[in-house]
Amino acid sequence: MDPIEEFRALFAQAQAVDRARLPDPTAMSLATVSADGAPSVRIVLLKSVDERGFVFYTNLLSRKGRELTAVPKAALCFYWAPLDVQIRVEGDVEPVSDAEADAYFASRARESQIGAWASAQSQTLASMEQLRANVADLDKRFEGQPVPRPPYWSGRRVRPRRIEFWHAGAFRLHERRVFECDGGAWSMRRLFP
Ligand SMILES: Cc1cc2nc3c(=O)[nH]c(=O)nc-3n(C[C@H](O)[C@H](O)[C@H](O)COP(=O)(O)O)c2cc1C
Repeated sequence: MDPIEEFRALFAQAQAVDRARLPDPTAMSLATVSADGAPSVRIVLLKSVDERGFVFYTNLLSRKGRELTAVPKAALCFYWAPLDVQIRVEGDVEPVSDAEADAYFASRARESQIGAWASAQSQTLASMEQLRANVADLDKRFEGQPVPRPPYWSGRRVRPRRIEFWHAGAFRLHERRVFECDGGAWSMRRLFP
């Protein structure tokens, strides 16, 4: 009765599939909602998962970042075609600790660290030259020193309230099991497909 354990077991299976068939099982759709109720969705990468929830990293001033500040709720969706599995996660969103974000940022390639500084994610960009010029400037600025984490770049954790596992079945007899968290305890029920 532990959907996080179940997620991890399926995630391990997905990671064992060869990359030609499943290029990146950490890719997940992240849906957010604006203050006036309009949804938006994009792909981000799952960077860690444990009993507390599902963590991704982003620019906090991006569209998704601002939406999550205004409405700290999100939905995630994984589709691992070779396993015929869809997993949906819904919950409240909270910041990861600064220490956790620093540790993850430090583990990234220097080019990605510079990229986080160079990109005002989701703002209007005049040309690709402008972006390349930003990168070149920042390369000089941080030459010979470690690149610190930008103050507007961090992780967010989706604390699951609801996790649904969908397994494809023959003749559309798909199996759907939804886990719901109430006061720390999970319950499970099945849904018609
Ligand atoms: C495979 C893939 C992985 C991505 N991973 C991330 C990610 O981990 N974090 C992120 O901020 N954007 C990631 N992106 C870019 C987002 O999809 C999106 O374009 C960007 O974050 C801006 O979204 P927003 O304007 O809704 O904030 C990824 C895109 C793709 C296609």
